Amino acid sequence: MFVKVIDLSALPPETMAGVEAEGRKILLSNLGGEVYAVDGVCTHEESLLSQGFKVEDRVVCQLHLSQFDLRTGEVYNPPATEPLRRYNVKIEEGSIFIEI
Ligand code: FES
Repeated sequence: MFVKVIDLSALPPETMAGVEAEGRKILLSNLGGEVYAVDGVCTHEESLLSQGFKVEDRVVCQLHLSQFDLRTGEVYNPPATEPLRRYNVKIEEGSIFIEI
């Protein structure tokens, strides 16, 4: 089931945004015009990744600096060891939808 989250205009290229859908926290990112969605909470502890830092195609957790790939959710360095879940995204009529 695809769920509408925000307007595409609210996510300019090279930015990220935290949203909620069906009770889940999701991190959206726009990388060169392509939109990606991964879980919005770090897999190490309860830290919101939307409060972290975007470095190229990665998000850096603000708490202990683990890095995750914004496209795939892959984790690059400890202390987190588990990847983030990735969500399918579609754009329709100027809005971003993610598959829950
Ligand atoms: S809470 Fe994210 S690295 Fe520790």
